[in-house]
Amino acid sequence: MLATTSVGRKLVMAVTGIGLFLFVVGHLAGNLLIYAGPDALNAYALKLKEMPYVVWPARLVILSIFLVHIYLGLELYRQNREARPDKYFQEETLRADFASRHMLFTGLMILLFVVYHLLQFTFHAVPPPEHIYTTDLKGKEVTDVYTMVVQGFQTGGVSAIYILAQVFLALHLSHAMTSVFETFGWTATRFRGYIEKVGPIVATVICFGYITIPLAVLTGNLRLPDSVIEQQALEEMETNMIDVMPDPAGRRGDQS
Ligand code: HEM
Repeated sequence: MLATTSVGRKLVMAVTGIGLFLFVVGHLAGNLLIYAGPDALNAYALKLKEMPYVVWPARLVILSIFLVHIYLGLELYRQNREARPDKYFQEETLRADFASRHMLFTGLMILLFVVYHLLQFTFHAVPPPEHIYTTDLKGKEVTDVYTMVVQGFQTGGVSAIYILAQVFLALHLSHAMTSVFETFGWTATRFRGYIEKVGPIVATVICFGYITIPLAVLTGNLRLPDSVIEQQALEEMETNMIDVMPDPAGRRGDQS
């Protein structure tokens, strides 16, 4: 009911947007554990895995609010396009249309990024990394999320996609936060000047936090654990040996 009126839609957009914003902040906090080393990040990933009764409902909630947010965003865009401006309001409407078009574009770029990101790190359906390692964590064999992330970002193109996606996220969040403040009427106060600066500053800080990770990998400040480097060297040696070893079937064929 609420989402059928224009004010209701804006309100639902704002509330779902706040939900997604909280996820983005929480996810960043978890990801920054990578700077505390492989064990810290892997232990965090394991803790989440060991709480399916919390994680699965949370995933369903996030997915639902993501879908509602996208649907209402598309509706808002359609509504803006269909509005026939009269001469007096033309300039204002064009500005609003520019903002929503820009939000639609950055929003769709974020959607594409999230699909790629899930295929890469959650479903392991697209490389890199080609191979997901496991590691020993206090006697337990666990997925080596640290190695997965570092290996993923060692490919320049993948890091470039992540960095570009964060720029789109920063642009989207920056405008979205100001929009939420407007929806709740906070920009109509004498603090308007300050409030309008909050969105761009918070968005820049969050996206900078995410961008530091691929940058730290590319600059060699986040490296693979020694044990993984040794394991990779061993695997490479084995592959090379198989390549140079004469093919027994072929030799038998030559002798006959
Ligand atoms: C440097 C940037 C990022 C890194 C290193 C990163 C890392 C990860 C990793 C490792 C996972 C998989 C966790 C697992 O299944 O064990 C994951 C899942 C996910 N990431 Fe990111 N992420 C980044 C940025 C983002 C951004 C910007 C968004 C959203 C705009 C995002 C949304 C998600 C979502 C929705 C999931 C699935 C969560 C779940 O399965 O419960 N990530 N991320």
